[in-house]
Amino acid sequence: MRTDIITIFPQMFDTPMSEAMIGIAREKGALDLHVHDLRDWTHDRHRTTDDEPYGGGPGMVMKPEPLFESVRAVSSQDPVEPHVIFLTPVGETFTQGLAEELATYDRLLFVCGRYEGFDERAYELADRRLSIGDYVLTGGELAAMVVVDAVARLLPGVLGHENSTQDESFTTGLLEYPQYTRPAVFEDMNVPDVLRSGDHGRIAAYRRECALRTTARLRPDLLMNFEVTEHEQSIIDDELGRSPRD
Ligand code: ADE
Repeated sequence: MRTDIITIFPQMFDTPMSEAMIGIAREKGALDLHVHDLRDWTHDRHRTTDDEPYGGGPGMVMKPEPLFESVRAVSSQDPVEPHVIFLTPVGETFTQGLAEELATYDRLLFVCGRYEGFDERAYELADRRLSIGDYVLTGGELAAMVVVDAVARLLPGVLGHENSTQDESFTTGLLEYPQYTRPAVFEDMNVPDVLRSGDHGRIAAYRRECALRTTARLRPDLLMNFEVTEHEQSIIDDELGRSPRD
């Protein structure tokens, strides 16, 4: 997948986007990442990318001209038309489901905002606006890296095991069950016996129960649209201290 990023801080991407799994994804060619400096599309001596807001108010607004020029120029660097994503707190919330959808595109182009936001007209360029959560960052760069990271690990050939993503949190609709490795006893804390029993049926049932209990306790909102059996509902009720339904 080709991925382009337009930012006024291209160096922010250097280390996070070249280490660990993303570095490997790039080496393998699964991720073809290009980071562009928005200031390359300014035409004044100070390479200005922001200006004061019409109507007054605090902060500065990102000017439309360099945004339009850069998105058009970067898009035309490859025959594949990119899916253009603006990172902004005023956007749809990024989820695992969206990561899975974005992983199906051949090309993504991220535009990172700074200051108080983008001139509204720049959104004409966007196929979607994404927020990574209900908090305000100093800019879209970290958000773009979060999205690229979550998408890149889903690309074919990037993760070692074919099914590494199958059981994980959010993919199943539940938080992931707890994992243990050796030693079996650590500072008086035991690995649950069932996981050492070799009985795959019991292990699967135990993990499912743990996932249901953890989700009920920490993220009950995830269960709102989640289909459960009667037995599973009784596990959830038990976890939440509710009496069984009649
Ligand atoms: N820019 C500033 N805050 C952001 C957020 N939460 N998500 C995406 N881009 C942002």
